[in-house]
Amino acid sequence: MSDEHQETTSEGPLPVASIDDPHMREAVGNPRRAENSIALFLVLGILGVGVFGAAYVQNWKPWTLGVSLGLGLFFLGFGLSAWGKYLMPQGPFSEARHALHSARAEREAISAALVERTGVVIRRRGMLGGLLATGFGIFGIVAIFPGLRSLGPLPGLTLTKTNWRRGSLLVDANGRAIHRDTLDPGGIVTVFPAGYEDNTQSQAVDQTVLIRVQFTDLVTEKGRATWAPEGYVAYSKLCTHAGCPVGLYERQLRLLVCPCHQSMFNIDDGAVPEFGPAPRPLPQLPLYIDALGFLRAQAPYDQPVGPGYWERTTT
Ligand code: FES
Repeated sequence: MSDEHQETTSEGPLPVASIDDPHMREAVGNPRRAENSIALFLVLGILGVGVFGAAYVQNWKPWTLGVSLGLGLFFLGFGLSAWGKYLMPQGPFSEARHALHSARAEREAISAALVERTGVVIRRRGMLGGLLATGFGIFGIVAIFPGLRSLGPLPGLTLTKTNWRRGSLLVDANGRAIHRDTLDPGGIVTVFPAGYEDNTQSQAVDQTVLIRVQFTDLVTEKGRATWAPEGYVAYSKLCTHAGCPVGLYERQLRLLVCPCHQSMFNIDDGAVPEFGPAPRPLPQLPLYIDALGFLRAQAPYDQPVGPGYWERTTT
């Protein structure tokens, strides 16, 4: 490469590899022989492509098209690769560059100018700067509000207590009291303590499923001999797995089924889970029938309803 083509800058010409540089030489010891061999492959490639053209024009058999084109491209490609591998300068080459960064004095001058001019511009609009800073500050504080509010009201005792009390009258969602004649065996209804059937929070924690299993008293567990008079048995409707309403009753198998993950609770056996992920039985509400034949709670639930949580002591 001649000197007149060399790139020049204010810092002087960049070094360029000379044609006599050893890196510019071919890789093979006998370039002439390599050139002839490569030429042979290229000629074969030309022939293959030429035959393909003739076959296409003459409408020869399809296999002649494929073979001629395949061989032609193969030899052309082989020749091209060999050319690059054996006859091109082998390098390695590295390109010299001038340093791109500014001098230290220049950088410091630019920094000083930026600081000074920015300061002047902002000081010139001191009131706007103050208002902008105030706006961002208040926004930062106000942005916390939705996060706090979204936590909702404190749960209070709702994790451990329901509104069921000793003597609570059982009513359905419309406030109708449940009488001993309300259900036949196999019947099921969701009940609440009277006075709480319209209360949203009560509907969440107090909901209880009442099933009439039979006409005679039912003993679901040792110590619960009086809890299910005349075959009426009541269990919390909150699934002990994740709190879904356990509202499906499989009458033949006498199972309560949770629709969310198919936990199944045996109503004859204290609502012990027989299948699914629920870890513990549904709490049972002890019942009695008053003098007028209406169903009432003997006592509140004897344990928290719903899924387990960190402070639970009952199983
Ligand atoms: S919530 Fe009932 S099985 Fe998951």
